[in-house]
Amino acid sequence: MIVLTPRLYSVASFVSGERLIDVGTDHAYLPVYLLNSEKIKYAWATDINKGPLKKAGDTISQNGCSDNCKTILTDGLNGLDELDCTDISIAGMGGILITEIIEKSELAKKSNLILQPMTHPHLLRKYLYDHGYSIIDEDLAKEDRRIYQIIKAKYTGISEKYSEYELYLGKKNIENKKPELFKLFCEKVHKELDIKFKGTKDPNFGEILKEIERIISQL
Ligand SMILES: C[S@@+](CC[C@H](N)C(=O)[O-])C[C@H]1O[C@@H](n2cnc3c(N)ncnc32)[C@H](O)[C@@H]1O
Repeated sequence: MIVLTPRLYSVASFVSGERLIDVGTDHAYLPVYLLNSEKIKYAWATDINKGPLKKAGDTISQNGCSDNCKTILTDGLNGLDELDCTDISIAGMGGILITEIIEKSELAKKSNLILQPMTHPHLLRKYLYDHGYSIIDEDLAKEDRRIYQIIKAKYTGISEKYSEYELYLGKKNIENKKPELFKLFCEKVHKELDIKFKGTKDPNFGEILKEIERIISQL
């Protein structure tokens, strides 16, 4: 039985439909966990590289999922438009690469998206809001000293307004205020932006820092 770490467990908990495409699956822990716990009925585990896809195939067969999980070698969502999926997960990749994968695919507009950017989460949120995706929910997961951000989004066709600081903290994270972790997260984001601000003296960062300080003071 696959046991997920907090990061992938949070990604798994945002999957709400029965048929998942896991983009950049690597070891395929996520689809196999969801299949074995009967949270989904079918999965496509995809990767751009043959090595990870071989690992995925081994995990799938060793855990008895060969009949309901297929591996596919492809770049992002290329060539997958015809698949009848409900959810798409893209985890453990840079935020800019995730936006590029979403942008190139029509399927992304028809599915629940569960995204876990390793870098540039603010640019991913900006892309989603500017391009008609609504962020339905967000979560934070801590492993060792790192806090991961998990975003669930759905295409509505309506662009949403946002403030700059919300791109860094996440509107839903602000609403949810996950106890303890949210404060630590705000402090980490503040520290990172403070370093950028000191380097650039960009007044935009100054404004964002003030907003984050205001939110921390209310926690
Ligand atoms: C760090 S692993 C993340 C694995 C897993 N999704 C997770 O979150 O634990 C990133 C995986 O994405 C794959 N990858 C990188 N770029 C990709 C792309 N454009 N399309 C599909 N897979 C990609 C890599 O080969 C690698 O297996």
